[in-house]
Amino acid sequence: MTDPQNPALLVTSRRAQGCPFEPASELTALREQGDLPTVSGEHPFLGHFDVRAVTRYADVRAMSTHGHLSAGANVDPDGPRTLFNQPGFLLSYDGPEHTRLRRMLTGAFTVRRLQQMRPWIEQIVSAQLDAMQEAGPVADLVQAYALPIPSLVICELLGVPYTDRADFQHRSAVLLDSTRTAEEQIANYAGMHAYMGELVTRLRAEPGDSLLGEVVGKHGDDVTDEELIGFGNLLLIAGHETTSNMIALGTLVLVQNPEQLAAVRDDDEVTTPAVEELLRYLSIVSQIGRHATTDLDVTGHAIAAGERLTLSILAANQDPELVGRDAGLDVHRKPVPHLAFGFGPHQCLGQQLARIELKVALPALLRRFPTLRLALPFEQIDFRVLSPVYGLMSLPLTW
Ligand code: HEM
Repeated sequence: MTDPQNPALLVTSRRAQGCPFEPASELTALREQGDLPTVSGEHPFLGHFDVRAVTRYADVRAMSTHGHLSAGANVDPDGPRTLFNQPGFLLSYDGPEHTRLRRMLTGAFTVRRLQQMRPWIEQIVSAQLDAMQEAGPVADLVQAYALPIPSLVICELLGVPYTDRADFQHRSAVLLDSTRTAEEQIANYAGMHAYMGELVTRLRAEPGDSLLGEVVGKHGDDVTDEELIGFGNLLLIAGHETTSNMIALGTLVLVQNPEQLAAVRDDDEVTTPAVEELLRYLSIVSQIGRHATTDLDVTGHAIAAGERLTLSILAANQDPELVGRDAGLDVHRKPVPHLAFGFGPHQCLGQQLARIELKVALPALLRRFPTLRLALPFEQIDFRVLSPVYGLMSLPLTW
């Protein structure tokens, strides 16, 4: 089921024509059908490819934890270097090797470290709001707020200078742009690799107290420079691209639902359920990939060795099995075990950090600008349709 206008866009991440937050009707129909149909797509590295679409909540959850369904992109380890065959890129590992590497990072991603960062996050949020207010009353929320906050946070966490943001934000955007050619992607990754290589050299000489520095300090002899480069690049990209799109898209959907916006703005008690609900409802990582390493039967579905699967987080998070019949946005909904951060061994490493950022950034924005509204007609908003992280190119707002 290829989209003639967007062959790169698999049905498992397609949003509705009239409501670009919710799954397309053809995706909901696949979930109601309940089997694992083969769908097609185009990719700069893979060319034309077929995958089995997994859309039900129970199936996506079961397949995310299955030991014989690998998350690795199956990219030739000796082929041209990209993030996907970079040592240390956690999503390419399975089993004990994945556990070994992941533990080094979870050991440094402690609740204590994150809690210590919270007052600092509140300060940077406040400073960004001051700057917006001074330059206003119109701003592109992406450039003025949604992108700077997680970028500043991940720079602080990794020990990357924030003054380098134009370069790394640009390279991350290219990496997530599915319309770029393989040649462009390889050249772009060479820049990312060289940049992170320099940071790793500095950390080897003087680890300091950043998260990556702590990994070097504690596990320096057990981790190679290439693995550290992979850790750094994965965290740098995952750390700012995801959260920034959640801030921007979360604001947009609230602006479109004024009563729910008012609840988030006026009632502290709503913050936690609202953030969980926005994560579920928007499912910005719309789908994740897996492939079978052997013949399998999972939740009653036969899967052949080598078959690729695309697990639709977008469809699963709207499944009536999870949320009942009314799957629309409801910031008062008691949090449900959604799959916005994935599930199983690869479940998002930065989820607690992302939650803190969202809980601070969203209410603070709405309180500072109680009359926040779109500065252009909704139909003119530019969505990031082809990116593996759904979101917005820009969001002009006024107050
Ligand atoms: C709202 C924000 C975020 C969302 C929706 C999100 C979503 C996800 C999802 C769905 C996965 C699982 C991928 C799979 O199983 O194939 C994942 C993995 C991961 N995320 Fe996040 N993420 C977010 C923020 C972050 C942040 C802030 C960081 C780092 C600072 C981060 C670091 C990672 C890493 C390192 C992995 C790979 C873990 C592994 O393979 O073991 N993410 N994320």
